[in-house]
Amino acid sequence: MPKILILDPIAQEGLDLLAKAPGITHEVRTGLKGDALKKALAEADGAICRSGVTITAEALEGNRRLRAIARAGVGTDNIDKEAATRLGIVVMNTPTGNTLSTAEHTFTLMLALSRRVAEAYHTLLAGKWDRKTFMGTQLADKTLGIVGLGRIGQEVAKRALAFQMRVLGYDPFLSAEGAAKLGITRVERVRDMLPQIDYLTVHTPLTPETTNLIDREAIALMKPGVRLVNCARGGIYNEEALVEGLKSGKLGGVALDVFREEPCTASPLFGLPNVLCTPHLGASTEEAQTQVAVEAVELLINYFTKGEVRHAVNMAAIDPKTLEAIRGYLDLAYRLGLLMAQWHPAGASACHLVYRGELTKKNTKLVTAAFCAGLLERALEEDVNIVNSELLLRERGIKLTEHSRSEPGAFSSSMTVEVESGGQKFEAGGTLFGNNMPRLIRLGESRLEAYLDGKLLVFTHNDVPGIIGAVGTIFGNHRVNIAQMAVGRAAPGGSAIGVLNLDSLPPAAALAEVSGHKDIQSVRVIELPPAGQLPTWLRG
Ligand code: NAD
Ligand code: MLT
Repeated sequence: MPKILILDPIAQEGLDLLAKAPGITHEVRTGLKGDALKKALAEADGAICRSGVTITAEALEGNRRLRAIARAGVGTDNIDKEAATRLGIVVMNTPTGNTLSTAEHTFTLMLALSRRVAEAYHTLLAGKWDRKTFMGTQLADKTLGIVGLGRIGQEVAKRALAFQMRVLGYDPFLSAEGAAKLGITRVERVRDMLPQIDYLTVHTPLTPETTNLIDREAIALMKPGVRLVNCARGGIYNEEALVEGLKSGKLGGVALDVFREEPCTASPLFGLPNVLCTPHLGASTEEAQTQVAVEAVELLINYFTKGEVRHAVNMAAIDPKTLEAIRGYLDLAYRLGLLMAQWHPAGASACHLVYRGELTKKNTKLVTAAFCAGLLERALEEDVNIVNSELLLRERGIKLTEHSRSEPGAFSSSMTVEVESGGQKFEAGGTLFGNNMPRLIRLGESRLEAYLDGKLLVFTHNDVPGIIGAVGTIFGNHRVNIAQMAVGRAAPGGSAIGVLNLDSLPPAAALAEVSGHKDIQSVRVIELPPAGQLPTWLRG
């Protein structure tokens, strides 16, 4: 029975849904850190968090049970995704649940900053009726700069346009045409908008590119009196530069919902005039919290009951329908990976996959991940699966490339894998018969048609008469039954390849006899799963 751990407070609606989920238990354990967190995670199958808990690599180290983490919210920067990926743990988020609340909070801060609402209220609390100090500015006819035009950035833009603001925007994934459709003028670089804006708001994740994006130099490019808002992530604005800018009068105001270090209860910014701060409240509305809690719980229930993965941030999303449609190809790719690892086991340095025909219309990234899982599975101690295989491959310095060609070739769909190892290239090709019968259609230069299951004997030989008979006789003498046999060659009279499906592993003596044949150059035994046996990560 899967057990789900709730690591941060979430809305009651989410907890109620969990309580009703058949076959799933849950435990609420908030405020965990260090060893207590590590131990709790080691005893759970799934976990739900917000941004309060920090799930580090240490907290996950050695965890062999946890399969999925759902973040009730957008940002997953409090989860070490690389460590999770390495352990095959899917990390999912609920990307849309708090978009509107955070866009509205951005506007709350922009308006409140412009009209100095918080400071004015404080003077009332102090018994003063001051109508002179708090002269504000209106938003209409001002220019707003938005950095990051994803979900929240776009909602902020819509609201700004409704307030009759002019909107400039920068996002590397938004074209000028896309921006124009939204009524936004796109700039080429953030610094291009800085001299033009009256307000700036950022809606990007915190990445190496966005850390300290707005620093002393950036502020120097701005007009005097500009107001800055951050409801995304602390660290995008350099907090020291903000203090300097406010004290020098260059900045007209700063409103922050997020801080470099959180929780943040003391800051040189607090108490400065024209500053307004909230303790990370962007998503703190009843609507957003209910939605993200329910969505996070549903993500885990669907994961544990149907194997469905949605909104995964550390693997391609795969829903049951997609999985069903490509399960056969994932199995084919996985088996080709296992085959390549055993055919030429010396360290690979690069892998190149080519997809042809109908298969190119499917999610080939997943097929590639399945190949990587097969290639690595026998070599690594840790569990390899479709979530972590690409990362593990790249961590070993193995280059991975993928290429699609829509014209079908001899089969309606096929894939070729090429593994570079020790300066040589080894190639295999496969296709699917029906929905679930993987077949080997090429090995090296040779075309053939062999079953990709069970115990295989792969041998290369001179293309001369009598080889098949000789191998058959040797195995017959050693009582090894040959279930299937396929032979192939690039051209008559050259080098050829044989693939036998055996009912049992051949004894060393039989292999020595086959290897000793004057026309046989190489012999290799390859073990694949029996037909129809899928790895755990591929089962429905
Ligand atoms: P999103 O993924 O939809 O949008 C992020 C956008 O940032 C993307 O379009 C991306 O292309 C862009 N981007 C990335 N790097 C960039 C760069 N260097 N320059 C310019 N643009 C860049 O995410 P979202 O849902 O809109 O969330 C945005 C941010 O808000 C995230 O950091 C999220 O964690 C944060 N957030 C905060 C709260 C809160 O409570 N304050 C609530 C929700 C989300
Ligand atoms: C998020 O990334 O979703 C926000 O930071 C809101 C939260 O704290 O959950």
